Amino acid sequence: MKTFYVTTPIYYANSLPHLGSLYTTLVADALKRYKRQRGYETLFLTGMDEHGINVQRAAERAGLQPKEFVDRVAAIFQQTFAAFGLDGAHGGYDIFMRTTAPFHYAGVQQFWRRVARARTPKGNAAIYKGHYEGWFCAACAAYKTEDEYSKPAVSGESPRCLVHETPLDRVSEESYFFRLSDYGEALLDLYERRPDFVWPEERRNEVVSFVRAGLQDLSVSRLKSSVAWAIPVPDDSAHTVYVWFDALTNYITAIGFGDEERERVIGFEKFWPAVHLVGKDILRFHAVYWPAFLMAAGLEQPRAIVAHGMWLDRDGRKMSKTLGNTIDLDVLHRHFSNDTVRYFCLREMVFGQDGRFSYEAVIERANSDLASGLGNLVSRTLTMIARYCAGTIPPPEIGEENYLQAKRAGVNPDPSDHASALELARDQFTTLFDEYGFSRALEVAWSLIARTDKLLSEAKPWELVKDERQRETLNAVLYRAAETLRWLAVMLHPVLPDATRAIWRQLGLTGDPADLDPATLKWGEIRAGTRIGEVEPLFPRLDRKKVMAEIESETKGQGTNTVQESAKAPSTAATPHNATHANVAAPAELISIEDFARVDLRVGEILTAERVPKSDKLLRFTIDLGEPEPRQILAGIAGYYEPEKLVGRKVIVVANLKPRKLRGFESQGMVLAASVGPEDRPVLATFVEDVPNGAKLK
Ligand code: MSP
Repeated sequence: MKTFYVTTPIYYANSLPHLGSLYTTLVADALKRYKRQRGYETLFLTGMDEHGINVQRAAERAGLQPKEFVDRVAAIFQQTFAAFGLDGAHGGYDIFMRTTAPFHYAGVQQFWRRVARARTPKGNAAIYKGHYEGWFCAACAAYKTEDEYSKPAVSGESPRCLVHETPLDRVSEESYFFRLSDYGEALLDLYERRPDFVWPEERRNEVVSFVRAGLQDLSVSRLKSSVAWAIPVPDDSAHTVYVWFDALTNYITAIGFGDEERERVIGFEKFWPAVHLVGKDILRFHAVYWPAFLMAAGLEQPRAIVAHGMWLDRDGRKMSKTLGNTIDLDVLHRHFSNDTVRYFCLREMVFGQDGRFSYEAVIERANSDLASGLGNLVSRTLTMIARYCAGTIPPPEIGEENYLQAKRAGVNPDPSDHASALELARDQFTTLFDEYGFSRALEVAWSLIARTDKLLSEAKPWELVKDERQRETLNAVLYRAAETLRWLAVMLHPVLPDATRAIWRQLGLTGDPADLDPATLKWGEIRAGTRIGEVEPLFPRLDRKKVMAEIESETKGQGTNTVQESAKAPSTAATPHNATHANVAAPAELISIEDFARVDLRVGEILTAERVPKSDKLLRFTIDLGEPEPRQILAGIAGYYEPEKLVGRKVIVVANLKPRKLRGFESQGMVLAASVGPEDRPVLATFVEDVPNGAKLK
């Protein structure tokens, strides 16, 4: 069986889980589920980076022994990942790695020995002892060259790291060095031979330029007297292993390198090489240092280093504790379903590029794409099957004798157009997923939702059902919609594991979409006569104002929860932390695109229009918005329009307006009109071109 091994970075145990750590783990989770569907035996690794000066200091501040401290932080990470459905019990990661595990300790020492014995491509010893003199950033766990720190304003002060803006540590001590400077050509050759080794190309080019500019040897140890909380260098107890050398090695020790029992149960031989998912912030460690270490150790290179962008706040600023704009995972989890968070992260951020996070944007995606898009298609299709087809999947065929009827209803009697659209989308979807194009893949899936919505709006099953001669047309339309939902459930499973299982059940299907390969989907495999399941809402609409008010009150005044406080709390604390203000209010006069997007504007077709008795202002319409049932909407335009003349007119409707009663009639939306002249004469907004009912305006 083909294997697929995917890893996330192991997260520093000196801070709490945050949107970034959640994100990489979530993407790896989706990839694993996808590859599993595609027939691979998968392995997904995530975990904790638990050594180093920063963790040592964080533990001291918490008044705990380092091991006790990291145990507690690791428990918080595991609970957080479990809450988001990313743990093994939910089909997520297979191994939660911890670098304090004894087998890792032994594996790192074995790896070190292998590298230390090696000769570089230029025939030198790969590791040698020297003296390091320079600056070290504890937060980055990296040595800093002059272009990587800002000079102190006051002489005598330490320079500051450009990434973390924290003061650097002066290091002047004996150290072991890895002779990285001898690996430049071999690395360039690797990037040349394997153009997909670093993804995306833009990042690959950065790596190539960095290596071309010339590599310096890398200090790979610290004196034990400076950093005690680390793995000892083999055969030299005065030194400890540099935390990145230790951390990178986790990718192989986790699966059996250096440990016979793990090798037998998991298997380095079986699963290596891995696809490493990393944030672009740590690309150099993965695409330069790690491959060089592996070359020295004589081990195979990773399958790929895949670098994603960073989540920024709504104003495009980096998230940081100092700015107080990090995202409280507890709040995120309380207000949004796991599928919503997954969908948002994979749809909103173009993988590889930076993306902006705001709670408003999550609500918008939840309402427009999930509730009104996928959720609405599922519920309208299944409700109609329940009502019009006695709750069973109807037969797909339209007999030749009914071709004309079908055409009259605007339905192509031949399903092959629809089937081809599905096949094309299926192929594009899998190709895009294979290339980490998650956001585009989801767009492709959503184009099927739009297509099927259009099919329903144009065929109007609620009209067809009134005419027995249109029975086959009605059946065929609902069959096509149900079959599309089956395809969507399989394709979208890696992104929406819970919702797709619910769709599956609601369609009355047995088995699990997790076990089906999207690439093998074939038209027509949902069987007519299948009894559908209970129809239940998948994605309840979120009340933006209410949710935002709650989030604001939950995050307001709440200081940043420190890792020290959290680690001190009983380690059973079941929630993620680091609450801070996520959203900064926009200026009052101007609205953001997200504000605008909250208004759900739809194309509607006026089906009936009449005057409201005893009112000279109001007209009462029924308007088709592409939903299972037309809506009743009232408008104060009776003085200017003859109702009969408006039937068939396409209008713009505010579809997410709270319903209100006017003269005893409930108005379920509002029709847009320009207000002209001193007497505010209403002029209905309409379209020159043909547009389907229900189409969204944006
Ligand atoms: N411990 C090292 C990694 C060692 S891997 C052998 C480390 N840890 S970290 O806790 O700082 O996590 C870094 C990773 O978290 C990033 O590479 C990225 O995957 C993720 N993110 C951290 N902040 C992020 C954002 N703001 N946005 C997206 N992902 C981010 O570095």
